[in-house]
Amino acid sequence: MTGSSASVAGVVGATGRLGAALCSALESAGVPIGLRASRAGWAVQEPPTVVFDVSGPECFDRTVRLCRQWSAALVYAVSAVPDAHADRLRQLGREVPVVRATNLSIGHWIQIRLLEAVASLGPSLPVLPVAAVWERHPITKADRPSASATELAEVWRESSGAPAADLTSVRAGHPVSDHAVQLDLPDESVTIAHAVTGIGAAVRGALLLLPWVSTAPAGLVTAHHIYDDLIAKGVPHAASPQH
Ligand SMILES: NC(=O)c1ccc[n+]([C@@H]2O[C@H](COP(=O)([O-])OP(=O)(O)OC[C@H]3O[C@@H](n4cnc5c(N)ncnc54)[C@H](OP(=O)(O)O)[C@@H]3O)[C@@H](O)[C@H]2O)c1
Repeated sequence: MTGSSASVAGVVGATGRLGAALCSALESAGVPIGLRASRAGWAVQEPPTVVFDVSGPECFDRTVRLCRQWSAALVYAVSAVPDAHADRLRQLGREVPVVRATNLSIGHWIQIRLLEAVASLGPSLPVLPVAAVWERHPITKADRPSASATELAEVWRESSGAPAADLTSVRAGHPVSDHAVQLDLPDESVTIAHAVTGIGAAVRGALLLLPWVSTAPAGLVTAHHIYDDLIAKGVPHAASPQH
């Protein structure tokens, strides 16, 4: 892992589905883990330089306090972010690098870019498509709609000027999630869909962020801002048995 050899990671939510997979990937990449936090305790071996919070909103205060104490960067990947937490992430960003990662998967970034590309065609199209957003997660996901679905609807509104006509949530099926934007034109529809079948999609995104955030100045950015930057520069292709 280039650019992150000096990083020490912290994982808040280290025993969860995402946290455990992230810890295992960090270990495989040779990144030391200085903090592992769960309800069983916050075990500190050495102060981390980059904290990944993949827990829930209840850990927010302690995570922010520790990042401030250690001057550690924060990658905040908890999906539910109340307005008060969003404000405090902005404040923390005046002191340390802070990344808001609503959805860590690179596929979600691609889906957003495709949606923006369609919206940018809007004025040239015979008719602006009517957009509807649909998301599905297993019944274990308590909140709805997902932050990613809300983001898709917001991106469509901002880039096309028209609100999404509907935003629907389904709680059923298998891990991990599906998000689709249906774009209706007269007598035809185009759907931009993104299916996540393994938590590895989010883990790979988190590992992509690590070298960038390890050397970033203080400031609040989104994971998509970092992907934009990395992809503009050209990310080396990782070997993958899937491709
Ligand atoms: N941004 C993304 O791409 C992305 C992708 C997937 C998930 N997420 C988000 O990541 C978070 C975790 O998802 P998950 O599926 O891994 O959930 P999960 O399996 O329920 O894991 C939650 C983790 O948080 C810990 N935790 C909860 N309350 C705590 C507390 N009060 N103090 C200390 N630790 C606490 C749990 O510890 P215990 O084991 O001790 O209970 C566990 O380690 C959620 O917010 C989810 O929405 C984000």
